[in-house]
Amino acid sequence: MSTLVYMKLLEQTPAKYDRGMRLLTLGRIDAIKREIADAWVQSGHAVLEIGCGAGALAALMTGRGARVTGIDVSDPMLTVARQAAPGAELFHMTAAEIDKLGAGRFDRIVSTLAFSELSEDEQDFVLKQAAMLLKPGGNLIVADEVRPVGLGARAIAASIRLPLAAITFLLTQNTTHALRRFESRLGQAGFRLVARKRYLLGTLALFVAEKG
Ligand SMILES: C[S@@+](CC[C@H](N)C(=O)[O-])C[C@H]1O[C@@H](n2cnc3c(N)ncnc32)[C@H](O)[C@@H]1O
Repeated sequence: MSTLVYMKLLEQTPAKYDRGMRLLTLGRIDAIKREIADAWVQSGHAVLEIGCGAGALAALMTGRGARVTGIDVSDPMLTVARQAAPGAELFHMTAAEIDKLGAGRFDRIVSTLAFSELSEDEQDFVLKQAAMLLKPGGNLIVADEVRPVGLGARAIAASIRLPLAAITFLLTQNTTHALRRFESRLGQAGFRLVARKRYLLGTLALFVAEKG
C-alpha cells in the first residue's frame, strides 16, 4: 500500500494513528514532536496546535507546563486526543476559522503534518491568521511533507507521488499536498524564517518562523 493511502487510512482509525505514523516516518515524526516540545515550548507558554490529530504533541507540550489549545476537523481524532492530552483544550474547528481564537494571544503556534492537508490558498490564509494570533516575537513551528530540492529528486518524487495521490483520492476522497515554496509563503504572511531542517531524503521539513 502506498504511503499516501496508508496515511489517509490511518486518519480514519485514530486509535492506531500514532503507531502507524511512527512506522511510516521511521520514528522521525515522534522525534520532531519531541524536538518541538523540548526546544521551542516553555512552561507558561500559550500554544495553539493546528490539526492536533491524536494529541501526541499536545500531550508533550502540556507535560512541559504549556497552556495548549488544539483544533482539528476530525471528531474521532479529537476523541483520542482528549484521552492522550487531558490537560489541553481541544476544539472541533477548521484551520480557516482560527481567527475566532483572538488576536495576539499565543506565544507559539505549532502544526505537524496538517498544512499538507490544506490547499495552497488555505495555507496562505491560515498563515496570515497565524501571524495575527501570535504575540509580537512569537514563533510559528510547522513540520510537514515538502517537495524535495533538486530537479532529479523532484522528478522521482513526482513520478511516485502522482499515481499514489490518484489512488488515495479514489479510496478516501482526500489527498495531501507536499508543501511548495513554504519559505516564501511564510514571508508573504509576515514571518521571518529562523530555522529549517530537512529529514527523510528531503521529503519532510521543520520550519521555525518568527512573527516580524
Ligand atoms: C496527518 S494528520 C496529523 C495529525 C497530527 N498533527 C500529527 O502530526 O500526528 C492531519 C490532521 O489534520 C487535520 N486536518 C485536516 N484538515 C484540517 C483543517 N482544515 N483544519 C483543521 N484540521 C485539519 C486532520 O483531521 C488530521 O487530524
